[in-house]
Amino acid sequence: HGVMRLAIRARARGGNPDAQVLRDAAVREDPFAHYERLRTAAPFVGGAFSKVSVHHDVCTEVLRSADFGQIAGSRTEGLPPVLQRVLRLAGPRPSVGPIDPPSMLAVDPPEHTRYRRLVSRAFSARAVAGLRERTRAIADGLLDDLEREAAAGDGRTDLVARYASLLPVTVISEVLGVPVAMREQFLAWGDAASPSLDMGLDWRTFRAVERSLGELDTWFRGHLRRLRRDPGDDLLSALVGMLDDDGSGLTEQELLATALLVFGAGFETTVNLIGNGAERLFAHPDQRRLLAEDPSLWPNAVDEVLRVESPVQRTGRRARRDTTVAGVQVREGDLVILVLAAANRDPRVFDRPHEFDVTRADARDHVAFSSGIHFCLGAALARMEGEVALQALFERFPDLAPAGPSRRRRTIILRGHASMPVTLGRAV
Ligand code: HEM
Repeated sequence: HGVMRLAIRARARGGNPDAQVLRDAAVREDPFAHYERLRTAAPFVGGAFSKVSVHHDVCTEVLRSADFGQIAGSRTEGLPPVLQRVLRLAGPRPSVGPIDPPSMLAVDPPEHTRYRRLVSRAFSARAVAGLRERTRAIADGLLDDLEREAAAGDGRTDLVARYASLLPVTVISEVLGVPVAMREQFLAWGDAASPSLDMGLDWRTFRAVERSLGELDTWFRGHLRRLRRDPGDDLLSALVGMLDDDGSGLTEQELLATALLVFGAGFETTVNLIGNGAERLFAHPDQRRLLAEDPSLWPNAVDEVLRVESPVQRTGRRARRDTTVAGVQVREGDLVILVLAAANRDPRVFDRPHEFDVTRADARDHVAFSSGIHFCLGAALARMEGEVALQALFERFPDLAPAGPSRRRRTIILRGHASMPVTLGRAV
């Protein structure tokens, strides 16, 4: 009822009911009832300027349409105009952000095609298959650490801090060629920067985002300079080799944006997949049993986690020209919000849409990795990491159980856990 009241109040103000409601902490904790209220027969809810869709077919149509492009917003967009003016006066800010142009995520073709091609081979299904064994070794090493620490202590640990976050940052650091020894620092920078995905930040959060992006930016610039002098056998060194400041190759800004995006996307999202997966399996012992009996179900289980607990809850596009979507007129410049997490529970696509079922035949039809030209570059890597991480964890510790309430991240776009206390139980 609180949600309804908020939605009505927001509508009365003439605002977008969705954007307003998501500021409410309880709704952020469990947004799915809210999404269902947006699920009317109409393709979109919301006003003329900003439309929201929770429908699978509408989301897919927009994401695949050349009439829509990336929003390419600026981190300052959500701030009150007076603060934006202050910032402009305050002088230069971190030059490149992982989701600002020229990051591939923020640009349209032809630039998008060029940037994506530079790194796509490194994340192909084939390349990822080559990383599986190493990922399993990393997972086993982290589980050894957990076991040792738990035995020395009271048998408890934090699954997010000590496992779910460490695995992806270690893997992407090795692929890119950044020092794994710095992973705790990277996680801290990433955590502080992650609210930058959400619009309408308060001043204090905004400052924290800027500070961590600035530090990350400075560190990466230094690292790229080192690689230029002394290249290694890694992805960043290969990209550094393409640097060409006279304009024909890759510029330093382009290189930095690509590196920061791939690095950040590589560890800020998969941690949520692993945490959300553990949480779903704690809540569904029957599904956990099915996986123990038939481990070949793990890949499907990972897609089912992505479907019901999508780590990236939403994305958006801006119309590049006047067009129509599902019969609705959209004007050039209009913003369209696509709630991927709600499309993944569309009853017209998924039977019993809210039920977590690891044997579901069409689990892979979700749009948790988006669709169209920006379809997640790291989808194969994320799926592999999710499978390896969850299977290794639940097979090593068959009695793994929550040891107190977990705490969710406060972000709107990213859905995951900041902390998850568990007891390991006996190890197998
Ligand atoms: C793009 C989700 C893991 C790299 C995207 C998009 C989504 C997404 C929804 C598209 C956003 C849009 O269309 O506006 C996820 C999820 C992950 C995950 C749920 C984990 C469970 C990864 C990993 C990498 C990665 C491990 C590492 C390489 C990227 C890149 C893009 C992207 C580079 C931009 C692609 C483009 O603009 O063409 N991801 N991602 N992601 N993702 Fe992921």
